[in-house]
Amino acid sequence: MKLFLLHFLAATAASAFVMSPPHMWTKLILTHHWPTTFCEMEHCQSTIDSWTLHGLWPDKGIECNSSWHFNVSLIEDLIPDMDKSWPDLISPESPKFWKYEWQKHGTCAAKAESLNSQHKYFSKALELYHKADLDSVLKKFGITPSKQYYPFAHIEEVIDSFYGIKSKIQCVHPSKNAVYQILGQIEICFTPDFSLMDCEKESSKKPLNSSVKAEAKSGFSVCDPNVPVYYPPMI
Ligand SMILES: *[C@@H]1O[C@H](CO)[C@@H](O)[C@H](O)[C@H]1NC(C)=O
Ligand SMILES: *[C@@H]1O[C@H](CO)[C@@H](O)[C@H](O)[C@H]1NC(C)=O
Ligand SMILES: *[C@@H]1O[C@H](CO)[C@@H](O)[C@H](O)[C@H]1NC(C)=O
Repeated sequence: MKLFLLHFLAATAASAFVMSPPHMWTKLILTHHWPTTFCEMEHCQSTIDSWTLHGLWPDKGIECNSSWHFNVSLIEDLIPDMDKSWPDLISPESPKFWKYEWQKHGTCAAKAESLNSQHKYFSKALELYHKADLDSVLKKFGITPSKQYYPFAHIEEVIDSFYGIKSKIQCVHPSKNAVYQILGQIEICFTPDFSLMDCEKESSKKPLNSSVKAEAKSGFSVCDPNVPVYYPPMI
C-alpha cells in the first residue's frame, strides 16, 4: 500500500506548485457509487458488481459555463472505458449521465488548465479512478458484499489507512430508527495537482442527530459511525 502512495507522490512532485486564485476550487472529489445501492434507490437494474464512478467534482462551483456544451465525439476514444468505469446506471447506452456531469461539474473543474477540455476532464477522472482502484482495495481487505453487517469503523479504517487520508463514506438510511444503514457512496479527495488529500477536515465521529437522519432518508448522507453497515450483494 505504500507503493501506491509513492506512485502518487512521484507523479505529483514533478508538477510545479501553482498558487490558485481565491475563487478557484481547491479540492477534487472522486465519487464512487455502489450500483446495487444506487439502483435500489433509483429503481434501476444493474448487473454490475464493482464500484463505478459517479463523478469528479470540484469543491466549489456548479454549472460554471452553460455555453460549453457536452460533445461525446470529443471523448470517443474514452468510451469503452467510460462504459465500464462510469456507466449510466439509469440509462445504459446513453451519454446523458456524462453530459450532466460535464455541465454540472466538468465546466467548473475546467477552470484549471489541467482540466480545461472535455477530453482532459474525463480522461483524468478515469485515470484517478483506476489509480485509486477502490474496488480492489476493498476486496483485498476482505470487505465484500455480504448478508452480514460490517461495523462502520472497520470499513472506514480500511479505506483511510490504505490511502492515508480521510475519505467520506456515505450510506442510505432506510428509516429513522433502522438497525442498519446501506453502504452507497465513497469519496476520495485530491488536491488540484492530483495528490491524495483529506475529504473532510473534522472527523465524522460525532453521531448524527435524529432530524438530520430523517432528512437524509431519501438519499445518501454520511454514514452514522454507530450503526452497522449493510454492503448489499448484487440482486
Ligand atoms: C465558456 O465556454 C465557451 C465554449 O467553450 C468558451 O468559448 C468561453 O470562453 C467559456 N467562458 C468562460 C467564462 O470560461
Ligand atoms: C463535436 O466535436 C466534433 C469533433 O471535434 C466536431 O466535428 C463537431 O462539430 C462537434 N459537434 C458539435 C455539435 O459541436
Ligand atoms: C439537529 O440538527 C438539526 C439540523 O442541522 C438542527 O437544526 C437541530 O438543532 C439539531 N438538534 C440537536 C438536538 O442538536
